Amino acid sequence: MSYDAQFRVWRGDSETGELRDFTVPVNEGEVVLDIIHRLQATQAPDLAVRWNCKAGKCGSCSAEVNGRPRLLCMTRMSTFTPEDVVTVTPLRAFPVIRDLVTDVSYNYEKAREIPSFRPPADLKPGEYRMQQVDVARSQEFRKCIECFLCQNTCHVVRDHEENKESFAGPRYLMRIAELEMHPLDVADRRDEAQEQHGLGYCNITKCCTEVCPEHIKITDNALIPMKERVADRKYDPIVWLGNKLFRR
Ligand code: SF4
Ligand code: F3S
Ligand code: FES
Repeated sequence: MSYDAQFRVWRGDSETGELRDFTVPVNEGEVVLDIIHRLQATQAPDLAVRWNCKAGKCGSCSAEVNGRPRLLCMTRMSTFTPEDVVTVTPLRAFPVIRDLVTDVSYNYEKAREIPSFRPPADLKPGEYRMQQVDVARSQEFRKCIECFLCQNTCHVVRDHEENKESFAGPRYLMRIAELEMHPLDVADRRDEAQEQHGLGYCNITKCCTEVCPEHIKITDNALIPMKERVADRKYDPIVWLGNKLFRR
């Protein structure tokens, strides 16, 4: 079924902007990104939107549809009725560059702050052996397409810009958890997660998990196990005594 949809799209830059109304034809089987492209082709040639694969795999087309963080290419028009107004706005937690394009460099900065995988110094190539259960755990986290929808959704930064300095966000706390649980990684990442990357800010609301297009169980499989590891360290009497005696 084809029909004319009512779209409300945010137009503007880092200084100013507004929601503008458009009427755009929709065809059977289309997704929101198709409509944004038709809008660009027919009525708003300078509309800025970031996209690449149109298959839910590059993580570029993240935006908010009716206030919910979504991949534009994976949001089917069939989830709306012809009477609905579909509002498309840029990710709220990151600064707008223009129209639907935001500056996501916060995420790249946080990625750079995490020390990389550290295998034992004497382990030679070919000696890396892992149990299937450990491989599977990493594989779940490695499905991440870096769409940053989880980063945009977490209230710790969505509502508190000032927390960005000290909070890495679910995607990068998950990266730390992946490395911490990796059987061949010898770095102890617990203090770092808690002190430098703000694991304690996470109060397990699970909003990050709800929006993840890869259905990664960010909270249950990464953040909570990481919190348990930090707690074990803090409340283990032997560790506590060791910290008292040997650390300042
Ligand atoms: Fe996107 Fe999920 Fe990766 Fe977060 S964890 S960046 S929501 S794919
Ligand atoms: Fe934020 Fe996810 Fe924790 S939404 S509060 S990082 S569970
Ligand atoms: Fe690649 Fe949407 S365009 S995920």
